[in-house]
Amino acid sequence: MPKLVIIILILLSPLGFASLAQSQNVGLGTPISQAQLSDFDLIAGPDGEGFPEGSGTAFQGKEVYDQKCQACHGANGEGTTANTQLVGGDMQSIESPVRTVGSYWPHASTIFDFIRRAMPADSPKSLSNIEVYQVTAYVLYMNGIIDQNKILDRQSLIDIKMPNKDGFVDMSQQQ
Ligand code: HEC
Repeated sequence: MPKLVIIILILLSPLGFASLAQSQNVGLGTPISQAQLSDFDLIAGPDGEGFPEGSGTAFQGKEVYDQKCQACHGANGEGTTANTQLVGGDMQSIESPVRTVGSYWPHASTIFDFIRRAMPADSPKSLSNIEVYQVTAYVLYMNGIIDQNKILDRQSLIDIKMPNKDGFVDMSQQQ
């Protein structure tokens, strides 16, 4: 082969390789859609920021609970395993404390946020915002924190005082 041809081949080869790579699907994933992206934005803070429109009562939430939650959390929130108990519990116990929504969680807003993003565990984010308000109300009702006709919405949710609200130490306030 003449020298000139060899030189041209050497010069062209990286370009040739690059265009070959571009034309093949290298399997590095697909672009994320706007809808998928907004799923990461579902954050409802204890100050009420990020809460969606809507409201619901425990009375309405019972139906959602019976259909979509009780298989794992029991008919009355008693749980079907150690970590699915939603009601009762005792943080002052001499034994290991039993942490539930009623005995442990300091803010009702966090319960709303958690249910909206993570529950039902076998189909997260499948509930409408209204259903999340309703079923959050029902979980609070089962714990004796609100009555069954209390309307839960963005404002009333942050006004609820949880039983264990003062059971936490804010380390940022410690010297
Ligand atoms: C397929 C089973 C399953 C279903 C259905 C389900 N959950 Fe859960 N849930 C779990 C499990 C398991 C945990 C514990 C998760 C963990 O510890 O990270 C949990 C945790 C929770 C917690 C936090 C409990 C705590 O004290 O830390 C809440 C609140 C909750 N679920 C509410 C609901 C609601 C409301 C529904 C119905 C809309 C629901 N779950 C449906 C399995 C389920």
